Amino acid sequence: MPLIDPFARPIDYLRVSVTDRCDFRCVYCMAENMSFLPKAELLTLEELDRMCSTFIGMGVKKLRITGGEPLVRKGIMTFFEGMTRHLHSGALNELTLTTNGSQLRKFAEDLVACGVKRVNVSLDTLDADKFAQITRWGRLAQVLDGIEAAKQAGLHIKINVVALKGFNEDELFSITDWCAAQGHDLTFIEVMPMGDLGNEDRIDQYWPLSDLRARLRERFTVTELDERSGGPARYVRLEETGQKLGFITPLTHNFCESCNRVRLTCTGELYMCLGQEDMADLRAPLRASPDNTALETAIRAAIARKPKGHDFDYSRQKVDGQMTRHMSHTGG
Ligand code: GTP
Ligand code: 5AD
Ligand code: SF4
Repeated sequence: MPLIDPFARPIDYLRVSVTDRCDFRCVYCMAENMSFLPKAELLTLEELDRMCSTFIGMGVKKLRITGGEPLVRKGIMTFFEGMTRHLHSGALNELTLTTNGSQLRKFAEDLVACGVKRVNVSLDTLDADKFAQITRWGRLAQVLDGIEAAKQAGLHIKINVVALKGFNEDELFSITDWCAAQGHDLTFIEVMPMGDLGNEDRIDQYWPLSDLRARLRERFTVTELDERSGGPARYVRLEETGQKLGFITPLTHNFCESCNRVRLTCTGELYMCLGQEDMADLRAPLRASPDNTALETAIRAAIARKPKGHDFDYSRQKVDGQMTRHMSHTGG
């Protein structure tokens, strides 16, 4: 029996955050001084394997590994190697990850060997100074080198750009051209109100993709595409370059009606929605018994309370539905 939620949505996509740590401190994702979880709180690599394998046994077809930065988790390749058996058996259709790219030079070939075919890389600017500013700790050259290594290893690359007013507006065409030249897919994301907003106010950063699209039309013939990747992105084709662009618009267009995913944190909490506080602790039933019955029961009970959608809203110049959780906690 596949997992079906109360709104008749089949849940076959699990996003797994394997660490809350990251070597960057993106301003819209983390505070500069983050306190991270003690190691004992984390699921071990063996527990992560058992957890994911249980979900796969219950009908999950797509696994996306996230963080924090997933590639800074010690020994993470052992986990990827383990998941390869589910690709071989046909139980799993896709094993992939979302990364900041900093460690791709080191891991690209190993990832390919584990059956990973695509990676999503977060990259908001191609300007080295602005990159240092937005990531606080990151170095653009290292990320570009990682992306190059991934491409050479045969990985298909999607660049994720968070659209930020007054920050990367002026790079709309340069980023689009660079992705076309490199053969990378490109998706723009509206910034969501997550984390403590004391110093960095998301309303000031919010650049609606409806506006971004209007600007694209000033230079390109933009054709709407019907295709869906199973994710929230909606796609268009730029006729002049033939390139495909994706838009993830939690604010201007709510896509929750077709949601197919749940999120597991590195401590074994299952979040049924990125934009809601409700979660289920799966670590307790996992650790309580070597048998998976209690875990499976807890998973079904959690899916049975998956909410209809998020409540993010920036209208009337105030933020509604804001989440105090940091994005690094649930993995984006
Ligand atoms: P593919 O379609 O397989 O490329 O993946 P994806 O778009 O699901 O994954 P990716 O990690 O690239 O997601 C990009 C970003 O979109 C995430 O980091 C989130 O910011 C946002 N996003 C993805 N899924 C959801 C969702 O269910 N709800 C909301 N509000 N945002 C989401
Ligand atoms: N709003 C939108 N996207 C975000 N990401 C991190 N924080 C936010 C936010 N507040 C994105 C990253 C990356 C993915 C994991 O989540 O840029 O693409
Ligand atoms: Fe790290 Fe990604 Fe968060 Fe940036 S957005 S701090 S790279 S987890």
